Amino acid sequence: MLLEVSDLHVHYGKSHILHGASLGVDRGEIVCLLGRNGVGKSTTLKSIMGLVAPSGGRVAFKGIPIGGWPAHRIARLGLGYVPEERRIFPTITVKENLLMGRKRAQRGDDADWTLERVYVFFPRLRERQRQRAGSLSGGEQQMLTIGRTLMGNPELLLLDEPTEGLAPMLVEQVEQIVLEVRRAGTPILLVEQSMETALALAQRVYVMSKGQVVFAGSVAELEASAAVRKQYLEV
Ligand SMILES: Nc1ncnc2c1ncn2[C@@H]1O[C@H](COP(=O)(O)OP(=O)(O)OP(=O)(O)O)[C@@H](O)[C@H]1O
Ligand SMILES: [Mg+2]
Repeated sequence: MLLEVSDLHVHYGKSHILHGASLGVDRGEIVCLLGRNGVGKSTTLKSIMGLVAPSGGRVAFKGIPIGGWPAHRIARLGLGYVPEERRIFPTITVKENLLMGRKRAQRGDDADWTLERVYVFFPRLRERQRQRAGSLSGGEQQMLTIGRTLMGNPELLLLDEPTEGLAPMLVEQVEQIVLEVRRAGTPILLVEQSMETALALAQRVYVMSKGQVVFAGSVAELEASAAVRKQYLEV
């Protein structure tokens, strides 16, 4: 596995939030982490990324144990992270935002994400490259955060609810982008609340409840498990 998380525990002060979560992502996959509000999905991504210190368990990326590493070092190893809150720099231009994403050395081959390649992916960003990023629409800002993260040449992309709060047309666009990123060779660990999005994009699914993974399986298996969907996902 490219990313292996086993028996992960996280505390915020005295609250025990993750209770031994385990999951994995392999090359070529879109894996979806599903679950209701507050079950620990974002905390899982943050602790993989080194933004929250795990209090137990193991995180390995490319076979290297990264638990306890600082986030910048994890990013340099090849993990890209797009948080739930779109973090653009509003006062500088779209192009400057993208250039700030260049963290890692370019490999010098076709797999490299360059400004040009991001613009081919997101024509809208090319059109608006000289505009202040703060003037972009919500959907465009989401494209910008994804584009900026790709500029760091991640070997695995962690995406936290990229379609949240977007109009249906934009949801579809972001879904297409997720599929294209994977087709271009970057696997994705996608946090979602929408089961429809998960079923449309992922090969494998983990369902989380109260800080634990309560279901792991293929999309087909989740579709067949009415009990799991009813208990942990549907309202
Ligand atoms: N910095 C923090 N300090 C204390 N508690 C926190 C902190 N961040 C999150 N929590 C709590 O940890 C639990 C898990 O939060 P988390 O953000 O991981 O959930 P989530 O599954 O991503 O939810 P959502 O779908 O609403 O984004 C929640 O009960 C939340 O209130
Ligand atoms: Mg969250």
